[in-house]
Amino acid sequence: MRSVITGTGIGVPPHVVTNEALSRIMDTSDEWIRVRSGIQERHYAAPGQGSTDLGALAARQAIADAGLLPGDVDAVIFATMTPDHVLPGNGPLLQVALGLGDIPTFDIRQQCSGFLYGLELADLFIQSGRYRRVLLVGAEVHTPFMPWHLGWDTVIGLEVREITEAERMENTASRDRTVLFGDGAGAVVIEGRDGAAGLGPIRLHTDGGGAGVLTMPGASFKRRPFVSHAQIEAGETLPVMSGKEVFRSAVTLMPQVVREVCALSGVPVEALDLVLVHQANLRIIEGVQKALGLPPEKVPHNVERWGNTTAATLPILFHECRQNGLVQPGMTLVFTALGSGLHWGAALYRT
Ligand code: ACO
Repeated sequence: MRSVITGTGIGVPPHVVTNEALSRIMDTSDEWIRVRSGIQERHYAAPGQGSTDLGALAARQAIADAGLLPGDVDAVIFATMTPDHVLPGNGPLLQVALGLGDIPTFDIRQQCSGFLYGLELADLFIQSGRYRRVLLVGAEVHTPFMPWHLGWDTVIGLEVREITEAERMENTASRDRTVLFGDGAGAVVIEGRDGAAGLGPIRLHTDGGGAGVLTMPGASFKRRPFVSHAQIEAGETLPVMSGKEVFRSAVTLMPQVVREVCALSGVPVEALDLVLVHQANLRIIEGVQKALGLPPEKVPHNVERWGNTTAATLPILFHECRQNGLVQPGMTLVFTALGSGLHWGAALYRT
């Protein structure tokens, strides 16, 4: 028996934010963002809309797409680095939102690799016979870490305000990170099925030696209090990133791990029909494509419309590829991701 994705869905937040809108509140430009990252626009959640809300939108669609009812789901895995609360996790909140009944829910936090780690768990649950139908959700609302105060209304197009020079300078200080992220959710239903289609092999890696390359130093339970005005003012409630190191690791380690799963399955890289790469940055995606020696059409991307949605990029991309006919029955594809941890990995999947 294999673990098969039988349904997919996405949760689309309401506000579409262009690069030009961001350039109204900080020193950046459409050209800089496009050239460095490929991103043209991203979606932002409405105020008060959390990753559970977006995850619920995606999950409802995925469950219906699988031809199931919420009560048919046996277990939930929720991957996010932006949960509604520190405690409890999003799993129990999603259970109530969807009316899933008394089933176990797991909250995992492998950031950009969350979907891959979730696939591994779902596959183990199904192969062991413990659960038959697993709902895997990747959802993020990154906007709360944007330090934009009065700039918000301007960014989401509610009202164009004059930005003071002090605000513009403050917004500009984090521009290398804030322009890259968007909000969104993707969900898949995974079920056990006989036949050739399904997941495997999967290879996952962690290098905690790289934890400092992409981290959020405050709010931290090593501090008393765990969050303070001083930490917010120092910009410590934003992710701190060594962009160039993340870039280098991504274009080296993702091709390596794609080759690992190909070797394990006996499928040559050139025989892959598609490689779905974590959507952080178009230059990273193209770097992975070139390192694997694949033509561009085998490595699709949507980062230009979504920005980086962390745990949600792969399920959103897979959903869109199913919708636009790029994914067809009988294909062999690989999912791959790398992100904070460092965690990275790849999963081979036959449709
Ligand atoms: N707008 C305008 N200028 C900017 C912006 C901006 N938004 N951000 C930075 N700059 C400026 C910098 O201040 C710098 O100016 P200076 O030369 O006067 O000092 C200049 O642009 C170049 O900055 P670099 O950091 O050298 O630019 P680089 O080419 O490395 O690109 C980037 C930065 C886009 C962050 C790149 O390193 C990257 O994509 N790294 C990967 C990071 C990533 O994707 N992280 C996401 C999470 S992890 C993951 O999902 C894999």
